[in-house]
Amino acid sequence: ESAPVLAIDGPGGAGKGTISCLMAEHLGWHLLDSGALYRLTAFAANKHAVALDDEARLAELAKALDVSFPIEQGQPLTVLEGENVGQAIRNEQVGEWASRVAAIPEVRTALLQRQRDFCQPPGLVADGRDMGTVVFPKAPLKVFLTASAEERARRRHLQLQEAGVDANLSSLLKEIQARDARDTQRSVAPLKPADDAVLLDTTRLSIPEVVEQLTDWLAQRG
Ligand code: C5P
Repeated sequence: ESAPVLAIDGPGGAGKGTISCLMAEHLGWHLLDSGALYRLTAFAANKHAVALDDEARLAELAKALDVSFPIEQGQPLTVLEGENVGQAIRNEQVGEWASRVAAIPEVRTALLQRQRDFCQPPGLVADGRDMGTVVFPKAPLKVFLTASAEERARRRHLQLQEAGVDANLSSLLKEIQARDARDTQRSVAPLKPADDAVLLDTTRLSIPEVVEQLTDWLAQRG
């Protein structure tokens, strides 16, 4: 690794996206939203009518993914084949497809180097499930962010409401629990804290409190 990495792993809805973006801004580091790569692979499969169990073709899609993350007016965009799909990939349906696609070893291998290429000076904040365990095992600080499933469902619900999307809290909770189960039980790169990760339960913490804690840890270790 050519630059320091802050690895932020954890289950869906723990606040990784928000926290990673704030930390990257605060540090002036690059940002990798690795979940977006799995979402994009699933989204591209749907677009090109590739079945979610066609492992060989899914791996090819992942390898050839024509994607970039340009920043426009301070907001990171997700551009797939020339089209901004930032909104289109961030819903529960694509999240569900993504967690299926992410359980395929060939897909994970196809995306590995692409993720490592994001590690450029002055540093990288990497958000995902296996940043500390597989992709950046030498990261000087690995954080595992969690929150209760109920709290994560509540946050997702709020986020969707703010985006004007109608969602049902109890079905969100069920979806979160199903995704947790698939992500933790898969045989390749399952969701789990790295041995040297620090755990942070954010159930009762505000966003600024989490940012402050990570900044302190980074100052101690970085
Ligand atoms: O974080 P996000 O909800 O966007 O991730 C979508 C899905 O992609 C996750 O449920 C997980 O199955 C998969 N993923 C993964 N490894 C990562 C990031 C995401 O398997 N590093």
